[in-house]
Amino acid sequence: MTRVRAVERILTAYETVEGAGVRLHRAFGYYEVPKIDPFLMLDDFRSSRPQDYLAGFPSHPHRGIETVTYMLNGRIEHADSRGNSGNVNAGDVQWMTAGSGIIHSEMPIPVDGRMGGFQLWVNLPRAYKMMTPRYQEIGSADIPTASPHPDVSINVICGLASGVKGPLKDIVADPEYLDVTLGPETFYSHPVKEGYTSLAYVISGEGTFDAEERYRISNRDLCLFSDGSSIRARSSDKGFRFLFIAGKPIHEPVEWRGPIVMNTTEELRQAFTEYNAGTFTKKNA
Ligand code: CO
Repeated sequence: MTRVRAVERILTAYETVEGAGVRLHRAFGYYEVPKIDPFLMLDDFRSSRPQDYLAGFPSHPHRGIETVTYMLNGRIEHADSRGNSGNVNAGDVQWMTAGSGIIHSEMPIPVDGRMGGFQLWVNLPRAYKMMTPRYQEIGSADIPTASPHPDVSINVICGLASGVKGPLKDIVADPEYLDVTLGPETFYSHPVKEGYTSLAYVISGEGTFDAEERYRISNRDLCLFSDGSSIRARSSDKGFRFLFIAGKPIHEPVEWRGPIVMNTTEELRQAFTEYNAGTFTKKNA
């Protein structure tokens, strides 16, 4: 039987400063752990002011997590300590598994004066924290669109929507990541695995996720769902666009400092000792 997920919490993204002085909006982060397990953070760096982001994210390490970058406008130029480099362009997704360790830079570049995208951090369970680092980079042309109804359009980045399967695979959290656009006054329902954490982050328009339609939410609001087997959304007359994200919770201790997330303080200490000694990235990686 279908059990529609209720709205458990609504959060509004707050302004914060990251990297070398990038002003961005954070939908959730450190202070919400572990309520959104396996997800750690969702940053929204859409901006119309170049001075907000040009300082970028110079060389920094990651260990124990995955970072997922989805661009709407502009691009991110990235390069890492292992010799990988490239661009994440508008409409592209980069799913980076930092695993045992990556040191990289991520520099936002405006295109036609516009810049914007999202970075999600996904935790790794103890057994995978030190896995070999890996990238899955998907160009916009390889992200399929599902359209179960003329007023519904879904970019399927990861997971399954209306029979359309996303290109990202073999990710530990068994995630779903959809970019859903609804026309005005449109109803949408989507199945979700029971026991998985799920959320929707609104990027334009407005609408509701609760059956009584009491909570109308809009740009930069986040809806965290309770458990159940499906979600439902309804757009207002303005239409509605949101990122829908779901994944399997890990239920392990989280020790988090900056860009490194481990299970124990000893593992954190070791990571920073290795970083300072220049032995952070592993030979096998
Ligand atoms: Co990074």
